[in-house]
Amino acid sequence: MRAASSYTVPRDPRFAQLEQQDLDYFRSVIGDTGVLTDPDALQTYSIDWMGKYEGKCSVALRPKSTEQVSKILAHCNKRLLAVVPQGGNTGLVGGSTPVHDEVVLSTAGLNRVLSFDAVSGALVCEAGCVLEQLDAHVGGHGFTMPLDLGAKGSCHIGGNLATNAGGLRLLRYGSLHGSVLGLEAVLANGTVLDLLTTLRKDNTGYDLKQLLVGSEGTLGVITAAAIQCPPRPAAVHVAYLAVPSFATVQQVFVRARRRLGEILSAFEFLDRGSLELTLAELDGVRDPLPSSAEPFYLVVETSGSNAEHDYAKLEAFLEEVMEEGLVADGTLAQDSTQVAGIWGLREGISVALRHAGPVYKYDLSLPVGKMYELVEETRARVAGLPCRVFGYGHLGDGNLHLNVSTPRYDDAVQARLEPWIYEWTAAQRGSVSAEHGMGRMKAECIGYSKPAAAVDVMAQIKALLDPNLILNPYKVLPRAALAGNVPAQRMPAAA
Ligand code: FAD
Ligand code: MLT
Ligand code: ZN
Repeated sequence: MRAASSYTVPRDPRFAQLEQQDLDYFRSVIGDTGVLTDPDALQTYSIDWMGKYEGKCSVALRPKSTEQVSKILAHCNKRLLAVVPQGGNTGLVGGSTPVHDEVVLSTAGLNRVLSFDAVSGALVCEAGCVLEQLDAHVGGHGFTMPLDLGAKGSCHIGGNLATNAGGLRLLRYGSLHGSVLGLEAVLANGTVLDLLTTLRKDNTGYDLKQLLVGSEGTLGVITAAAIQCPPRPAAVHVAYLAVPSFATVQQVFVRARRRLGEILSAFEFLDRGSLELTLAELDGVRDPLPSSAEPFYLVVETSGSNAEHDYAKLEAFLEEVMEEGLVADGTLAQDSTQVAGIWGLREGISVALRHAGPVYKYDLSLPVGKMYELVEETRARVAGLPCRVFGYGHLGDGNLHLNVSTPRYDDAVQARLEPWIYEWTAAQRGSVSAEHGMGRMKAECIGYSKPAAAVDVMAQIKALLDPNLILNPYKVLPRAALAGNVPAQRMPAAA
């Protein structure tokens, strides 16, 4: 797949080129095995999960301690070497890969669980721990991680925090801003910020850790985190429903919240196109309702402590919505294999889209009533172009994933989609980044969802914490906003 060229920006000439003396220094700090320079090995660090955003790093570093991260950043800051922090490299907005030749700083070597408190549920771990492995770890103590997403097998908890990842259970456990108890991070100049406490309550001054959550590697490198884990639900049930219209989808959502109340833990939707694509592209995914041909499907999950009671509630809800004609057909998973099968279908959509070829992905927060209108208008807008338009997402959170699949990345397709989609979203007072972040894809787009005064404060914070702008350049904030807040000699050159 040819990587997309349309997000290219010129290399900032202020940044130094990597030299032998830098490699020698890195090797002295983290040893030979932590300094990767082989072009084949570097390929995976240079290109993103979608194969859309590709740079060309000359080195990837894999430190194993916070002290090593601190020494690396202090050196890069002094030498004006730009740095991209990278976790599992599953990000979907081009935030985790270099744009040009930035040094990749991988957290893969920071992968130890430091402690788990089986009374409070507080987990303390290094940033490079893989989400699924953390869930297995706390699962052994009867707890669960407060987030879950399709990339759980590769994404790191540091990357999750840096993107403020949402995922499939935000409806139940809220955003990571609420679950993070503490953080350790290294600033651009090597200063270690030790905020790694496990306190539920702590009002001593400004809550600096929250600044790092969602900062996408632009304010510091997260090296460790403390996460509040909820008890693992004893009973999980999943229903899969076929629904005749998007208006009815919304009625079913209202009814689910009313009838299932505190046990409702996920409410996801997919359109028929997403279903058909996933069945066609992925082996091993089965259609839970093979005789149905409705335009919309829902995955409704309950999590609670009493299996019989929860199942009876979900069954009664299903009977009610079917009797009233809100749901055309439905099925309740009968065992954990069927539960996994339904989730495999939902989580498989993004993998199926990647199999299908290049894809323009939009991750939007919108009023629920407007979510599918945008999908339909997008279809009309790309009529005549070789595009297929798909809509799915976290309906319970008002989060639409609008995906446009094309045979190749094509500036004509992109020009039809952008900035129109962002303008449409702004007109609804929506957000152009619900959960994936801004990355490289939307660095110039923040103004669609935030006022200029807020963007200006963000740029001031960036300039305070990373005055040389070495951390994840060309990402998240518009160039003009940075220009207003750092001395001219430190600004990236004009495009
Ligand atoms: P990376 O991709 O490596 O990095 C993402 C960003 O964080 C980059 O800007 C990077 O510079 C920065 N970063 C990474 N680690 C650190 C660190 N330690 N310190 C500072 N900055 C850092 N996202 C959702 O929100 N919800 C979903 O449901 C969801 N599902 C997905 C399903 C699939 C199949 C895939 C491929 C992706 C999905 N994503 C989802 C997107 C992605 O998985 C998340 O954004 C995830 O949190 C990224 O974690 P990562 O470790 O891979 O980070
Ligand atoms: C999802 O909800 O499946 C993820 O955010 C990934 C995607 O948007 O494709
Ligand atoms: Zn999502």
